[in-house]
Amino acid sequence: MAENAHHHPDTLFNTDAPVHTRLRRMLTSSFTAKRMAALRPAIQKVTDEHIDAMLAGPKPADLVQALGLPIPTLMICELLGVPYEDHEFFQHHATVEVSQTSSAEQDRESSVALGEYLARQIHAKTDNPAEDTLSDLAALVKAGELTMGEASLMAVILLIAGHETSANMIALGTLALLEHPEQLALLRETDDPKVVAGAVEELLRYLTIAHTGQCRIALEDIEIGGEVIHGGDGIIVSLPAANWDPEAFPEPDRLDLLRDARQHNAFAFGVHQCLGQQLARVELQVVYGTLYRRVPTLRLATTLEEIDFKEDAMAYGVAALPVTW
Ligand code: HEM
Repeated sequence: MAENAHHHPDTLFNTDAPVHTRLRRMLTSSFTAKRMAALRPAIQKVTDEHIDAMLAGPKPADLVQALGLPIPTLMICELLGVPYEDHEFFQHHATVEVSQTSSAEQDRESSVALGEYLARQIHAKTDNPAEDTLSDLAALVKAGELTMGEASLMAVILLIAGHETSANMIALGTLALLEHPEQLALLRETDDPKVVAGAVEELLRYLTIAHTGQCRIALEDIEIGGEVIHGGDGIIVSLPAANWDPEAFPEPDRLDLLRDARQHNAFAFGVHQCLGQQLARVELQVVYGTLYRRVPTLRLATTLEEIDFKEDAMAYGVAALPVTW
């Protein structure tokens, strides 16, 4: 009961305009395509270092731990200004938060722990600002435009959304490519950034890791496909269904890195469309464009049947991906 009465604070995810517009506008300058492109050299460096470390280490390796998680986590830490040394702490709580099997109590504990941690970080930036998003948030708090509660919640959302999703795409995308050797060969043999960018869009479409559906409430009657959704009805918008619609993408179950998949909905659509999509794109372009060229013999060190798929998580992925080379 108490749980139902609990007021959910305003976030990007659960608000409409004008609250959503106000919150989102505060972050747009931190996430422009230009800023994300400027991160490319840092992403390339981190990717090369992690591939070096994987190659120098024992075989088989778990691609999730070796590359999938650390690369996006390092990048979001850099962007936000969160110390990477704390990653075990926040990855643990982030995993609890996105798992649909955690209890309400576990969920609450993790969100409090993360919120308090980020509030401390933002506080520390108030008098000691740097070129990062937490410093931007600290300045907004100081100017009275955001409360500390709103700012720390915003930071929690960015931290979680910024590593779990890209991490899943790195491992799951690699698995999909290993299962489609002729497609993997296309990526391995090209150094054309346009081909790599196209491959990223197709993998985003094909895998649609935001797989559980976005929940919405109709504000008025909507007619679609000959059916009327009534104002007030709950709607679950299935992104996988949109991305596997044969009218939009012929033979949608075929992974075809050369098709034009740019119109996919893997980042959703409309005002809530993913804020981090340019960052995710650059990360995936660098990783997919580097890994298979540097490790041409990369292969699965297990069978498909033995892989643990994260059916219960908000973002689909694999818990581990044993690979060898
Ligand atoms: C491949 C990686 C990613 C995928 C597939 C993805 C997918 C999505 C989707 C489907 C939504 C819409 C949610 C909804 O409508 O309810 C969304 C929103 C969002 N994403 Fe991503 N995302 C990815 C990476 C990232 C990254 C790297 C960041 C942060 C740096 C990020 C931050 C956000 C935020 C803040 C929102 C909320 C935007 C709003 O409601 O206005 N995402 N993402």
